[in-house]
Amino acid sequence: MTAAANGRLFETRNVSMHYGAYRALHDVSFHVADGEFVSIVGPNGAGKTTLVNVVTGLLKPTTGEVRFMDRDIAGVGPVELARRGMSRAFQLVNIFPALTVRETLAVAVASRLRRVANPFRSLWRDRELQADVERVAAAVGLAARLETQASTLSQGEKKLLDIASAFALNPSVILLDEPTSGVSTADKHSIMEVMVAAAKAAGVRAIVQVEHDMDLVARYSHRIVALQEGKVLADLPPDTFFSDPAMIAAVVGTRPPAMKRAP
Ligand SMILES: Nc1ncnc2c1ncn2[C@@H]1O[C@H](COP(=O)(O)OP(=O)(O)OP(=O)(O)O)[C@@H](O)[C@H]1O
Ligand SMILES: [Mg+2]
Repeated sequence: MTAAANGRLFETRNVSMHYGAYRALHDVSFHVADGEFVSIVGPNGAGKTTLVNVVTGLLKPTTGEVRFMDRDIAGVGPVELARRGMSRAFQLVNIFPALTVRETLAVAVASRLRRVANPFRSLWRDRELQADVERVAAAVGLAARLETQASTLSQGEKKLLDIASAFALNPSVILLDEPTSGVSTADKHSIMEVMVAAAKAAGVRAIVQVEHDMDLVARYSHRIVALQEGKVLADLPPDTFFSDPAMIAAVVGTRPPAMKRAP
């Protein structure tokens, strides 16, 4: 698979997304090039998750184009997109508490190998699948936790399991919506380190994250895309972005009063 002639792995062109009468994205043009780590930032309700959902095929934009590997992917669902190499981690929603780490990763690997018929019986004897499960677990430091039930993992380990499930699909690109939310500052950094190292080892070509923690954004991003009220406020390298106090204030601000829900 190759990137577009302009070096872009994927992009949106003039995307708008309406939820009924409410416009969550307005004319958003966003791109990610081969080799990039891009952070999407912005206050609550700015449209970050909506943008990730549009790019990963969960939502079809109201208007505008979404391209991946130089093909129009508007209307292509997330399952087909994952098969083409785009994978995302959700905010823990993929974790079934009763499953073990091994079972969770087996489901993800099986879906890539298209062995969906009976994931809990015949697949256990599938050496290729089990080897893959063990490789993915090792890549995120969960090799010793394979038989542990997901519900008993620490918050940080749950995050790593969620990230590992995305890696299990052997993606070219991964998108992470607040990969470190709900964990301590110390754990955030180690999760990011593990994730970036695992991505490199797995040949992942680009990472996109939605992140509120500006230390993490500053440390890992090649480029920062700031959204505000559904529009692109800035698309800048970190040094330029962080040298503008007004920009930082706009991004870490809260939802404007007019947009707050009535009590
Ligand atoms: N399914 C939906 N139906 C109606 N409105 C929605 C829906 N999903 C999101 N919205 C609204 O669209 C706007 C953008 O939401 P989105 O979840 O993309 O924001 P976000 O930047 O990810 O915010 P947060 O930082 O809180 O995760 C918000 O005002 C939100 O209330
Ligand atoms: Mg969000």
